[in-house]
Amino acid sequence: MVSKIILDCDPGHDDAIALILAHGNPSIELVAVTTVHGNQTIDKVTRNALAVARIAGIAGIPFAAGAHRPLVRTPEVADSIHGESGLDGPVLPSPTLQVDPRHAVDLIIDTIMQSPPDTITLVPTGALTNIAIAVRKEPRIVERVKEVVLMGGGYHVGNWSAAAEFNIVIDPEAAHIVFNEKWKLTMVGLDLTHQALATPDVVAAIAAVDTGPARFVLELLEFFGQTYKEAQGFEYPPVHDPCAVALVIDPTVMTVVKVPLDVELTGSLTLGMTVADFRSPAPEDCTTHAATDLDHAKFWALIVDALERIGEPDL
Ligand code: BDR
Ligand code: CA
Repeated sequence: MVSKIILDCDPGHDDAIALILAHGNPSIELVAVTTVHGNQTIDKVTRNALAVARIAGIAGIPFAAGAHRPLVRTPEVADSIHGESGLDGPVLPSPTLQVDPRHAVDLIIDTIMQSPPDTITLVPTGALTNIAIAVRKEPRIVERVKEVVLMGGGYHVGNWSAAAEFNIVIDPEAAHIVFNEKWKLTMVGLDLTHQALATPDVVAAIAAVDTGPARFVLELLEFFGQTYKEAQGFEYPPVHDPCAVALVIDPTVMTVVKVPLDVELTGSLTLGMTVADFRSPAPEDCTTHAATDLDHAKFWALIVDALERIGEPDL
């Protein structure tokens, strides 16, 4: 079965790899790419998304720019991890695709409302600003999407604060809206993505593909590996965002449990924390889920397979 997805992203080294995985896997149909402020400004992440499209040979689908700032909070960027451009390391080609004239929020709404019910999966890998605004503008998207599979949050660890993950804490009000809607939502959070380490065997397997897109991924991993070492003490970098795409491709790539989730909006130490209630079995009407355990080999095999299928696109 082919899953149609909208990737809402802020490239971002790991967002770029998520795009490549979504494009290169035959059981995903990437129907639109939307961008959101986050790792860098909206202009930079949008430009990066278009550059990745050129490198990976993605064409014929709309790319639209979205929210330039969070709903309430002061904007923050993750330059300590992703650099000044948001995609430091590789030399980026100038984009050949044009940005769609629609706002990302309108593209998300139009795509969902014009598709048959239960056919579009939303895959956010950045702040949830666009998705929250879309829900407020057109609430019918909630019952119309198939599911939301997002990278963000975590139930036992943070990375932007002790308790909170970057995508959630930079726009916690947006995350609160998205987590509290009655759609099927799966949080692929840090508990899971900290298992998706780009270990030396993974790097060697990507190097063996020996194509332009594979070399681009290696350059991304080199820069990302260095900043993750310096900023957060990781021996190998955790490659977060493609994990959400991988779950849509193959549910056996990770374990997912049904659990009530909510987003902390008032804690002075815990703002943006995604709180999971594991005290008892989730109630029948619970719509939220959390990813727990990754099959590392299966996950990285999907990335290598996507790169092999992409080959050498015409730039
Ligand atoms: C998330 O934050 C961003 O920097 C990454 O792209 C990922 O989406 C990890 O906390
Ligand atoms: Ca991201």
